[in-house]
Amino acid sequence: MTSSRLPRPAGSPTLTVSVDSEIAEAHPGETVATVLLALGRQTFRHTDHLHAPRGLFCGMGVCFDCLVTIDGQPNVRACMTPVHAGMTIETGGPSDA
Ligand code: FES
Repeated sequence: MTSSRLPRPAGSPTLTVSVDSEIAEAHPGETVATVLLALGRQTFRHTDHLHAPRGLFCGMGVCFDCLVTIDGQPNVRACMTPVHAGMTIETGGPSDA
């Protein structure tokens, strides 16, 4: 996966996460939404009823458009969840929460 992040200072800590079964680099303190956007992902899930794409909208935990599955837990807000090493992130799942 390629990243669209700005360059970080040399020696900045990094960690790895799994995004839809692919390994991606992340930085401590970033949210899951930040990592997904850096990977060029604009659609995080699709609604169950109309299969409409949803992604980052409010960015502050209010709209629930950014729901993803994290470490097997469905319907977690990507914009409110900090990454941790080894995290498994799955996008694209239907959820009308
Ligand atoms: S973008 Fe609105 S809750 Fe995450």
